[in-house]
Amino acid sequence: MKTVTIRHNSAESHVTGQSVFVNDMEISSSQLVGRVVYSPLAHGIITQLDYSEALNMPDVAAILSAKDIPGHNQMGPVVKDEPCLAWPETMFIGQAILLIAAETMDAAIRAEKMIRIQIEPLETTLSLHSAIEKELLIAPPAFIRSGDAESAINLAPYTFDGILETGSQEHWYLETQSALAVPGEGKEMMVFASSQNPSETQTIVAEVLGIPKHLVDVEVKRLGGAFGGKETQANHVAAWASLLAQATGKPVKMHLFRDDDQLMTGKRHRFLSKYRIGFDKTGLILAYIVELNSDAGATTDLSLAILERAMLHAENAYFIPNISITGKAYRTNLPPNTAFRGFGGPQGMAVIENAIDRIARFLEMDPAMVRKRNFYGFERNRVTPYGKEITNNRLHVIFERLTESSEYFQRRVEIQGFNNKHKYQKRGIALTPVKFGISFTTAFLNQAGALVHIFNDGSVQVNHGGTEMGQGLHSKMIGVTADALGISPDRVRVTPTSTSKVPNTSATAASSGSDLNGMAIKHAAETLKHRLIPIAVQLLVSMGCKEAKAENLIFERNLIFDKYFPDFSIRFEQMAETAWKNQISLSSTGFYKTPNLLFDRKTGKGNPFYYYAYGMAVSEVELDVLTGAYTLLRTDILHDVGDSLNEDIDIGQIEGAFIQGVGWCTREEIKWNEKGFLLTHSPDTYKIPTINDIPVDFRVSLLRDFPNEGTIRKSKAVGEPPFMLAFSVWLAIKDAISAVRQHRVEPAFTLPTTPEFVLLSMEALKNE
Ligand code: MTE
Ligand code: MOS
Repeated sequence: MKTVTIRHNSAESHVTGQSVFVNDMEISSSQLVGRVVYSPLAHGIITQLDYSEALNMPDVAAILSAKDIPGHNQMGPVVKDEPCLAWPETMFIGQAILLIAAETMDAAIRAEKMIRIQIEPLETTLSLHSAIEKELLIAPPAFIRSGDAESAINLAPYTFDGILETGSQEHWYLETQSALAVPGEGKEMMVFASSQNPSETQTIVAEVLGIPKHLVDVEVKRLGGAFGGKETQANHVAAWASLLAQATGKPVKMHLFRDDDQLMTGKRHRFLSKYRIGFDKTGLILAYIVELNSDAGATTDLSLAILERAMLHAENAYFIPNISITGKAYRTNLPPNTAFRGFGGPQGMAVIENAIDRIARFLEMDPAMVRKRNFYGFERNRVTPYGKEITNNRLHVIFERLTESSEYFQRRVEIQGFNNKHKYQKRGIALTPVKFGISFTTAFLNQAGALVHIFNDGSVQVNHGGTEMGQGLHSKMIGVTADALGISPDRVRVTPTSTSKVPNTSATAASSGSDLNGMAIKHAAETLKHRLIPIAVQLLVSMGCKEAKAENLIFERNLIFDKYFPDFSIRFEQMAETAWKNQISLSSTGFYKTPNLLFDRKTGKGNPFYYYAYGMAVSEVELDVLTGAYTLLRTDILHDVGDSLNEDIDIGQIEGAFIQGVGWCTREEIKWNEKGFLLTHSPDTYKIPTINDIPVDFRVSLLRDFPNEGTIRKSKAVGEPPFMLAFSVWLAIKDAISAVRQHRVEPAFTLPTTPEFVLLSMEALKNE
């Protein structure tokens, strides 16, 4: 399979500064800026809202509260429990109460200072522990079960109990939440958004404005990063800007300051997970009982779907015959937590990966061998807890190839030698696998549309339902279009995602952007080819290629020819022009839905995934025993993307996801004060990985020769799965900590393992 490697279609414009983001857009000189006034209290009832003085300030065009919303005061994406503007109850610090439109940001800030808001405090719940204690469930618990875990645990030769807490994570997209709303004639509203889900943005804007969707157009040129943070929460700025634009009759741009963005928006869900695991002396897991408890924040957002994905990944790559998975999401007075790369998968997997590490230490086995011992098999042991059979299992081939290329076993011995010699430095190594289910688990969302135009000069425009957020989707789609029509990529342009070109789309999420939209584009291209082939045959015959036949035509290198008479060929543009003159439509839609998906939430059984993406990583770290600081010495990754749609982009996604995962596992720590105010709301207090955190020696490879049948060009999704390869770093750190006591004692462990935590864990071990 040839791979058309096309560089990222924003590469040049990003580097030269020509790329347009929402905040760069100036629609007219009358454009206003929008600003949000948000709750300073985590929970309370608003008793006074006085902005009359602020409204009289110069350059202030409008101030809106909940009572000024013409439609529904709602922006909950799934469950309607999230007001657009709080009234009378406020549920978290950062919840929007008022909107200001002004000529300048200075004027808006001056106006804000004149506003008086009084809030009568109510009881707040800020920690997940207290939400669990108070049983503040946002929905009934969910279950996935297979076998009889309780009995099997009681019969198991060995068992462990444990609790693992995993932390939150800020998305830190470079472009903060932004939208520009432009009122049109009558009630028309055009929104330029930075949203992963333009159709849902359209829905929410229509709902708050109280108008049908056909009056709202949402357009997304690109996002300056999203990582899940703009799957639902980009709707908010779009709704707010639209309300102000409708009220003032002028375009309104809203672009959150970094600190406001961090304070106001939800993050990765914190989890507190309790488990029991039973195993035998060979390391074989016999039973696993796990309860996953997540902090939803103040409203539901996507919490239930995220919890479901956590549950569907609780066993990761391992066959566990008796398993009981419970999921519970709790309400706290923090911003609603939301999608973040991996969508719950990381939180679910962390628990089993840590438990297996414990088993290995207890049995004095190599953790990689305990993992291998429990991998899903080929013949037997291939049914997941939710009843789906694993086919095309790549775990074993990746394990063989990666342990060899990374010299895992040899290095483990060397590390032992190093640790014996060094008192103040300890090294650790770990190999961890990822098996990640691809598809939205809400089955109907697995659909996509495309619109392809061929112009009569032979150039092509593609529009599809996916959004470009840096992940390279548009570049991949250019490749798919060029390939399907047999033309060079430079003839194809992807136009901004638009609800008026492709309607009713799903979010670009669940890593499935290229799977879904790629197929839709291919279908549109096939329809067009079907219409063009008779024209091409006519042209070939008229050139003297008398025996040219429709079924033998090849579209390649901007030419069309009969495969038996390659000396005769016509140019793509010549065919397009002739078709146009023959009154043939050169525009087509395409549609795709993933076949045979179904997951029954009541029984916890079904086929929620079209296929799985697999990967493995080996990481080695060195700890400074005196400070807890660590260096990531080397990481080897072997990851399965089927036949890559674009190798450079896929490797970039693997590197980026892995490093983002390393940030979550080891460094990023969110702190609130006792009132629920976010203390880490800027880059000086919240640390995402930098160039220094990249492994000194970083080797990323793609698994070769394993095409994925049934997807666009036999490729696999790549956006999220490699995030979870960061567990190799997390557990390498644990391995190094436990070297302080020759691996005889299980160290205290959590996520993130900040240097501070590592130091405390080592100190505790020394005193054991
Ligand atoms: N890569 C970049 N550069 N920026 C992003 O915001 N989002 C990730 C991933 N890779 C993201 C990214 C997330 S959370 C998802 S679900 C996928 O990209 C979405 O895009 P895809 O479906 O086209 O892979
Ligand atoms: Mo990604 S978390 O599915 O947007």
